[in-house]
Amino acid sequence: MADQRADPTDELPTYARMMAAYHEAFEPELRRVVRGVPLAPGSRVVDLACGDGSYTRWLAERVGDDGEVLGVDLSAAFLHWAEAALRSASLLDRVRFVRLDVEHSPLIEGRADLVWCAQSLYSLPDPAGAVRRMAALARPGGRVVVFESDELHHVTLSWPVEIELALRAAELRAFQERSDHPARFYIARDLPRVFREAGLPGCEFRSFAFNRQAPFDRPTRRFLDEYLTDLRDRVSPFLDPARREEFAELVAPESPRRLVDDPDALVVCVDHLAVATREAG
Ligand SMILES: C[S@@+](CC[C@H](N)C(=O)[O-])C[C@H]1O[C@@H](n2cnc3c(N)ncnc32)[C@H](O)[C@@H]1O
Repeated sequence: MADQRADPTDELPTYARMMAAYHEAFEPELRRVVRGVPLAPGSRVVDLACGDGSYTRWLAERVGDDGEVLGVDLSAAFLHWAEAALRSASLLDRVRFVRLDVEHSPLIEGRADLVWCAQSLYSLPDPAGAVRRMAALARPGGRVVVFESDELHHVTLSWPVEIELALRAAELRAFQERSDHPARFYIARDLPRVFREAGLPGCEFRSFAFNRQAPFDRPTRRFLDEYLTDLRDRVSPFLDPARREEFAELVAPESPRRLVDDPDALVVCVDHLAVATREAG
């Protein structure tokens, strides 16, 4: 998922389709992650950088009729999408969306039972500042929860290992070209440090692996198509010509070597969760 600050003018970013396909393909596992966070019925939750609102809705299911969830995002296009999905999920009574910059938001501090942020720290300029902001929004004793992936190890496929290593090296170079702070793209491995720098030492860190095995269902195929196209576009300039051609063969729809058509193909996705409690008092 690419590094893009939301454009207030406001188109959906190129990664939006891939992200939505990920939510759809791995919905049961992602819902399980949300079910595992400490959250009582009646809680007040903030979902920072809520995007298409999938996690907002899943959090809303957990807080029940007496709870409330506020989804915050800078992108009007994402909020429009999130609101449409919310209407069809009949959760209107307990969810609100608001368009704000998480870095300068005038939200009331010290009120939320849980402040959640998924797959977004890498797109914010100051990850520790964002977690500090999350902690300020939580009430004393409230939870701060970050769900993140490490882009270099988010998706593993059963492709030739030489291709995998070449792709990862090219991906790292692409991140380095694109940003003065490329570490933000693999921030998940740094979450304990980020939390400590934000004044929340000793966060609880958990990792989750989700897999699918060929023949892939339609949502998994859609996600893999989006993911592989995005990866190809990002890494191709940094691959040597032979590897570029080999990778293109694994991705092209008409190719006999197309990876998603391999009857023995596997995909494993890894995500990480960091949870901390804001000190009381
Ligand atoms: C990769 S998406 C993740 C969305 C969602 N949390 C999810 O996991 O599906 C990153 C989100 O951060 C939002 N975003 C980026 N910078 C922001 C800012 N300064 N304030 C609020 N939202 C921001 C983008 O609009 C986008 O919705």
